Amino acid sequence: MPVIRFVREGRDVECYPGENLREVALREGIELYGLKGQLGNCGGCGQCITCFVDVVGESSPGSLSGRTAVEDQKLRRRPQSWRLACQSLVQQSLLVLTRPQVGFGDAESRIAAAKASPLPPGPTAWPTQEADDDGDDRDDRETATSGEEA
Ligand code: FES
Repeated sequence: MPVIRFVREGRDVECYPGENLREVALREGIELYGLKGQLGNCGGCGQCITCFVDVVGESSPGSLSGRTAVEDQKLRRRPQSWRLACQSLVQQSLLVLTRPQVGFGDAESRIAAAKASPLPPGPTAWPTQEADDDGDDRDDRETATSGEEA
């Protein structure tokens, strides 16, 4: 499963591949919004431009889905690494700085420290039937969960 490392908050959060970054953050109690967004955001429609995040590291390129047309329009004067959380689907593990427009002390060293600890690459695949070629017809996942031995 992909891991989102929230640098400002010092937290690693797992999610399913394809989950919306904003929804994961809100579910986990991560504050995405500055004051303006707290007072009124669009609820994830890509209209308020208050759910900025900065992607400061990736386990591999393409950790988030590609920029949407909304992001191309709304973020044209922002750094290329900035995204709208509500428009971004998590594909692989990544490091994210929430509210990048709000500075915080020691940001560079905190980002460097967050990058120093390796991230898992991303989704871990269940064994496929072809890969599960141990001679029996049983799925090894069933054995692993039931505790039975062959
Ligand atoms: S929540 Fe409004 S643009 Fe993302």
